[in-house]
Amino acid sequence: MSKTYHITLLPGDGIGPEVVAETRKTLETLAPLFDLTFDFSEQLIGGIAIDETGSPLPEATLQACKQADAVLLGAVGGPKWSDPAAAVRPEQGLLAIRKELGLYANLRPVKIFPQLIAASSLRPDVLAGVDMLVVRELTGGVYFGPRQEGEQEAYDTMLYTRPEIERVVRVAARAARGRRGKLTSVDKANVLASSRLWRQTVVRLMAEEFPDVELEHLLVDATTMHLIRRPADFDVIVSGNLFGDILTDEAAMLAGSMGMLPSASLGDGKAGLFEPIHGSAPDIAGQGIANPLATILSAAMLLRHSLGEEDAARAIETAVERALDAGYRTPDLANTTLPDQTIEVVGTQAMGEIVRSYLGD
Ligand code: IPM
Ligand code: MG
Repeated sequence: MSKTYHITLLPGDGIGPEVVAETRKTLETLAPLFDLTFDFSEQLIGGIAIDETGSPLPEATLQACKQADAVLLGAVGGPKWSDPAAAVRPEQGLLAIRKELGLYANLRPVKIFPQLIAASSLRPDVLAGVDMLVVRELTGGVYFGPRQEGEQEAYDTMLYTRPEIERVVRVAARAARGRRGKLTSVDKANVLASSRLWRQTVVRLMAEEFPDVELEHLLVDATTMHLIRRPADFDVIVSGNLFGDILTDEAAMLAGSMGMLPSASLGDGKAGLFEPIHGSAPDIAGQGIANPLATILSAAMLLRHSLGEEDAARAIETAVERALDAGYRTPDLANTTLPDQTIEVVGTQAMGEIVRSYLGD
């Protein structure tokens, strides 16, 4: 009997629906090859949800996500809903789903595909050997602390509790153990009280539970510098919510395009939310040129982390590598040829089909 997995799809806004459609088809092609059955439920989130229901995270969506084995999200937001004075914004849907599902650990792996080394603005010798995992705390910190918004004065609060820090650091330290055994904790302990608690907590927890993992502390401003100066030195990075948000956009540029990077958001259970780290890219939405690979690679993370289907996850990753090896590129990666490479520029659907053609052989 094949296993049935319940997956909630949240295409969202902008290019979200296009990249999620290709990923769904990819999972459908994969299913019989690994004797899996996927039961998909498509739900509203973000701007489209505001338009249709008034809420960026309708109750039906939340319930479908709570019942699913995993959630795959495209992107939320766009100019139509970006009035800062608006009472509801698409991004609130994304923040609320992370919080409601208790997904406190956001895993953002940054790996350089050698085929795309010329896509980065950094020199190939700086990029050689880059393979890092950023673990971003996702349901606390300044994103969720007490805030007030007035005409003359406004504030946000960077609040962390010891247990919030401990649980995300455990995720990062376990990941480091399975990799090169090094953890870099990022904070701003020279200025912020919440960062001093962060650092103390990391020091104590690592000494007690992970003495075998090498630990270093970096200030966030210095980290931005080291990330582009010596990116290959990093193994696992762990940081609070806002710092992780900023650092992962920077780290994404090592890989050349936001269109290549997947992410997983996990909590205590196995169920998680998987999404590309790029946004809704309204400038190219609806044109059929968005890069679906970050979302397809997010589905590989979904298979690995939520479903425990490692072989199926690898099959997707291998198929993506083979599509790149064969020279296929979406337009975001079109100007990145090395002198001995010939490439063919293809659209979203064609890229999806090419990846699917490499599954299972
Ligand atoms: C991300 C995004 C979100 C965040 C936005 C869209 C709310 O930038 O996932 O990195 O800040 O977390
Ligand atoms: Mg971000």
